[in-house]
Parts: sequence; structure tokens; C-alpha cells
Amino acid sequence: MAIQDNSSQNRWSSRWLFVLAAAGSAVGLGNIWKFPYIAGENGGGAFVLIYLVCIALVGIPIMISEVLMGREGRSSPIHTMRTLAKKAGRSERWALLGWLGVITGFLILSYYAVIAGWALNYVWLTANGTFDGASADSVAQAFTDLQADPLQMIAYQTAFMVVTIWIVGRGVTAGLEKAIQWFMPALFILLIVLLIYSFNSGGFAQGWAFMFDFKWEAVGPEAWLIAMGQAFFTLSLGMGTMMAYGAYVPEDAKLSTTVVTIALLDTLVAIAAGLAIFPIVFANGLEVSQGPGLTFVTLPLAFGQLPFGALFGAIFFVLISFAAITSAISLTEPALAYLTEEYNAKRQRVAISLGVVCWLLGLGTVFSFNIWSDIFIVGELNFFGFVDYLSQNIMLPLGGMLITIFAVWLLPKEMVNRQLGISSTAMFWAWRIVAGIVAPLGVLAIFVFTIWPLVRSLFNL
Ligand code: PHE
Repeated sequence: MAIQDNSSQNRWSSRWLFVLAAAGSAVGLGNIWKFPYIAGENGGGAFVLIYLVCIALVGIPIMISEVLMGREGRSSPIHTMRTLAKKAGRSERWALLGWLGVITGFLILSYYAVIAGWALNYVWLTANGTFDGASADSVAQAFTDLQADPLQMIAYQTAFMVVTIWIVGRGVTAGLEKAIQWFMPALFILLIVLLIYSFNSGGFAQGWAFMFDFKWEAVGPEAWLIAMGQAFFTLSLGMGTMMAYGAYVPEDAKLSTTVVTIALLDTLVAIAAGLAIFPIVFANGLEVSQGPGLTFVTLPLAFGQLPFGALFGAIFFVLISFAAITSAISLTEPALAYLTEEYNAKRQRVAISLGVVCWLLGLGTVFSFNIWSDIFIVGELNFFGFVDYLSQNIMLPLGGMLITIFAVWLLPKEMVNRQLGISSTAMFWAWRIVAGIVAPLGVLAIFVFTIWPLVRSLFNL
């Protein structure tokens, strides 16, 4: 095994660049099309509160575990796991956890690129005025037409992959940092512009009420599980992304405050996204929803009815594309770092090969919306459904659970204390209880909750 030394020389230029990069990874489709809706549906302000509790008790401890392991191992998640397992006197098979992350990132990126491709396509469509004054039927039809057209989807998926691979191939400083320095401030500015627009749309009070009125009656056990799952996915945990990024964190950065800042930024964007989106929907008397339906049907329709809708609609899709790109970059890092180290290879070459394989895999997702839509892999899941389910509901939680267990119970105590700057016994036990017991149990609960319906349908229980 030839570990190339360049990975150990890679460092974020400052603590702030790491915060921005990690926030770029965290802020993605999950913040924009998922959080606002689940908050509104599951108790509004009450949900936001329990979500913050989940971020604090599940998200932050797992993120700290990942980053501390990355900074200690100073290499790709696979090599980091191997080194740390050795240092801790454990089996080197723990490196499999790194592999799990590499494969998960790869699977997620394959379909993330397809969906981000839709957003790119919609920048163009909205800016062109396609949806100005359009009827609900014609907006829905435009989305159906796009999904029925594999060539068009492939064109945009390819464009998105090319940009992503071009950025990551340039390396940590010239690629990742440069891109993040442009994309993240732009993302914040676009979001503020949209907030101002939405504030004046006429639906702001209703949007605010939907997201923030305390509706305790809507909070059941399920709301807790949804909040926990969201806290986990939105912070990009469980697949070694934060471990890979953690490998480049400067020695003097304080991990706990840095991670809290990242989590706060991510939450802030999720809330701002809700306040930017829902007033526009309500101003048009439309029904709120989530996911692709909200983004590619309801919102274009809503923008189409408002003054300057083409301009602000296009701004919204640029925002989504930027959020997706900074997440996509992070999805490649575990695999990219590993292959570069292991084969002493040029980063650019590895990036291109990785991009081609991921692009090919993404074709499966493209076809899942048209020619392969009825080919089922498991139960009622077609190719895309299967890859999405496997990566998000099984591989990510499994990875997250094992990562915190490893960090808390298997790593040498002095190593963790040094990384976290823990000096008192009380602090040490607080860390052990939250990160070593509460967080893995929380993830286990999400895991059981999400796979139970599938198990039931497969075995007719
Ligand atoms: N956090 C991203 C989002 O909210 C998704 C993601 C998950 C990105 C895992 C990287 C790794 O959309």
C-alpha cells in the first residue's frame, strides 16, 4: 500500500473554510425540499424545537465523532479507520466501515446528479418565462415530459457531473475551497433575495404560521423519528464525508464550537428556505407539499402567477443547483481521497474515472423515470427507489451508528480527550453518555422505523 503524502499536506486554509465546506455539504436538497414541509406538517414550532433537540443530541455528537476521527487519521475514511483501529488495538476490519461510506457516497451521488440536473433544466425553463401565467396542468405536464425524456435528463445530469468532477479534480485548495468560497456566499445572498421577495408576496403571515405556530397535538412519536432522521441526513452524516473533510481540519481549530457552528448554519438555511418558499405557495392559494412535487410543480406554478416570477423562479433554481453542487462535491471526497492515496494517483485522473462510473450508475436512475419505471428490484422499488432506499435508509444509519460507537467506546480515551480538549471527568462522561448511548440509540430507532414497513411488505407481516 502506497499512501501518497499529499493527503497529509492537504489542509483547509482556515477554520472558516472548513465551516463553509462542511455547511456546503450539509445544506442540500434536504434543507430546501424536505425540512420546511416536515416542520409544518409535524407540529410547526413544536417540531422545530424537537428538531433542535435531535440536532443537539444525535447530529452534533455524530458529527464531532466523524471530524475527530478524520483529524486524528489524517487520510481518507478507509485509511483513517484502518489506522485508528490499529492504534486502538482493534481488528483492521473496521476499515470496512470506510468502504461502506465510500460506496454510500457513490450511490447517493449517482442520483443526486440526476435530480440536480432537473434543477439546472428548470433554471433555463423558468428564466425563459415558460411558466408565466401557466395553468396547473401545463406546469405538471412540463415535469412529466422532462421525466419521460431520458436524453434530456442525461444531458443535464452530464452537465452537473462535469462541473462537480472538474471542481473536485482540482484538489482541496484550488478546487473545493475556491468553489465553496464562491458558491456559499452566493447561496446566502440568493436566499436573502428570495426571503425579501417572499415577504412581499402576500402570503408571509400564513407561511410563518404554518412553520412556527406551536401545534403540540401534531407531535407524536413519529415526529421525533422524522426529526431525528432529518437531523442525521441534513448534516451529511454516516458516510464518512465529515471524516474525509475532517482530515483537512487545522490542528488548532476547536472541534466542538466548529461543529456547532456548522449545525447552526444548516438549520438556519433550512428555516430560511421554508420562509422563502411557503409564503409564495400560500399567496397563490396552493397546497403545500414536499420533494420533487413541491420544487418542480408547485413552486414553478406559484412563481408563474407572481410579478417578476420568471426572474425569482430562476433565482430559486440557481439556489437549489448551488446547494446541490456543494453537497455533491463532498459526496465524492471519501472515494477520491482513498483512490488517490491507495494508488498514488493523480487526483484529476481519479476524479474523472470516478465521475464516469458514477455517471453510468446514474443512468439507472434516469431510466427509472421512463423505460425502466416498472422494473422492480425489491418489492415496489425500481432502480432509483432501491438505490435511494438502500443508501439513505440502511447504509447511512448503519454507518452513523458504528462511527459513534467506535469513536466513543473503542478509541483510546486520551486520544478523544486531546482531540476534543476535554479536561474534566464530568465533561468526559457527558460526552460518553450523549455520543456513546443517546446518539446511537436514536439512529437505531430511525433505522428500525424506516425499514419496518419494507420488512412487513416483503414478508407479508
Ligand atoms: N446533507 C445533504 C442534504 O441535506 C445530503 C448529503 C448527505 C450530502 C450525505 C452529503 C452526504 O441534502
